Amino acid sequence: MRTPFICGNWKMYKTVSEALAFLDAAKGLVAGAAGVEVGIGAPATALKSLADAARGSNIRIGGENCHWEKEGAFTGEISVPMLVEAGCAFVIVGHSERRQYFGETNETVNRKVKAALAGGLAVIMCCGETLGEREAGRTGAVVTDHVKNGLAGLTPAEMTKVVVAYEPVWAIGTGRTATPGQAQEAHAVIRELLAGMFGDQTAEATRIQYGGSVKPENVEEIMAQPDVDGALVGGASLKPDSFAKLVNFRA
Ligand code: PGA
Repeated sequence: MRTPFICGNWKMYKTVSEALAFLDAAKGLVAGAAGVEVGIGAPATALKSLADAARGSNIRIGGENCHWEKEGAFTGEISVPMLVEAGCAFVIVGHSERRQYFGETNETVNRKVKAALAGGLAVIMCCGETLGEREAGRTGAVVTDHVKNGLAGLTPAEMTKVVVAYEPVWAIGTGRTATPGQAQEAHAVIRELLAGMFGDQTAEATRIQYGGSVKPENVEEIMAQPDVDGALVGGASLKPDSFAKLVNFRA
């Protein structure tokens, strides 16, 4: 069975001290969550302090982006070895905000995914359609394009460290969540695609998170969908109480 993975995505929120205050409050609130993997994707400046403070807890810390080269003249970028040494367990790659504002393409996403895996990080690879694409009936095609090209060339063994996050762009930060049916429909498309790319066993084992306005009020019905194996959560992950309610979605 797939272990659900509830992960915060803090985006460009929280200084180091704010991040540590959150962790201090959240650790105890999520400590009892059994059978759930818990993660926080955090800004680069806070990663080392957060990872140090999270040691011994059930919260794993991850980066929100990485470069595909190990080092080099890439001003402003952060490499996989830097994330690893800071104590990260995973990295989020291909978020729609990265695609939209920072020119990320399927090709760079693919390079980043491969670099992260080679460097020992697990990966959350994001995919999802815009509102215009959904209205044009292109949801399946867009998600297929993101997944096929973002994960191109990976082996089934590498896929054991990959989580796919389905995040419809129109649902991110808008308060407009996909209905459980819409989420399930897209997740089923992704799982079938993974079966074609990597075989049934890998497809069955790969976790697919939903992201886009997940909050304590709707997490349970989203998580109840058979192909939804977790959530990637922005806004509702910023407060310890709310984050803990998401992690404890079964309670
Ligand atoms: P949201 O963001 O929960 O604030 O909609 C989700 C995400 O961007 O991962």
